[in-house]
Amino acid sequence: MPVSVIQLTDLHLFARTEQDFKGQNPWQNLQAILQQIERQGLPDLFLLTGDLSQDETSESYRILSERMDAVGVPWVWIPGNHDQPELMAQYRSVESSVCLGRWQWLLLSSNSGQPHGELSVPARNQLLEMLADPMAEFQAVAVHHQPLLVGPDRQGFFHSELAEPGQVAGIDSIPLRDDGWLWQTLCEYRHVKAVICGHVHQAHQIERDGLVLYTTPATSIQFAPHINNFEIDSQAPGYRNLTLLDDGNILSKVERLNLNSAAFPESE
Ligand SMILES: [Fe+2]
Repeated sequence: MPVSVIQLTDLHLFARTEQDFKGQNPWQNLQAILQQIERQGLPDLFLLTGDLSQDETSESYRILSERMDAVGVPWVWIPGNHDQPELMAQYRSVESSVCLGRWQWLLLSSNSGQPHGELSVPARNQLLEMLADPMAEFQAVAVHHQPLLVGPDRQGFFHSELAEPGQVAGIDSIPLRDDGWLWQTLCEYRHVKAVICGHVHQAHQIERDGLVLYTTPATSIQFAPHINNFEIDSQAPGYRNLTLLDDGNILSKVERLNLNSAAFPESE
């Protein structure tokens, strides 16, 4: 049976739900997106790929976990650079993997305490163990920071492959910095079918060495794609729909919030 997953990413929530973030209200965006998903059909799993909180408060994780529990569908979360994993764990454990039908998601923390991402030695070792001993026929990986660059003229590159890494502006100046270790490791395992990430606040589908990276719009603010800088984009908040098939293939589609039918409630 195919299984469906929805990726929500870069929620950037505040404990004060009425608080705006660069012209968007992150809490109201999340409500509207969840209501749209409930109308269109719930997935088998929600995957929340980091930057869950903007103010990094315990309260922001509490309201998020309660809201996700209320949907009634299994869900998992991983931290981004804006997150506090120990505060997240007060409300829901940060799992390292989750199985769904013939698929196992490997959930990585790239939180380094800095804006860019890193994989710790224990995280790398745990990943190697999960790759060598898969719990399902196929595996896919979720990580907050982009392991491949997304910007113009360098899309699909590792950060370490840039001639002058220090001169990269925009989101590619703070990617997963691992010298390509994650990507090259995953490419050694034919049962690994895809990687999804957040952090870039824009949608891309990038293939390298036979493996595909999906990046996904934020539920909060959007960054303009195809430029070498940070710029807020006017596109609607979004999320990614993934259908994982029994043969190891993946169907994927980026969905945007339909602003015409979205009912933005008053802040609670
Ligand atoms: Fe973010």
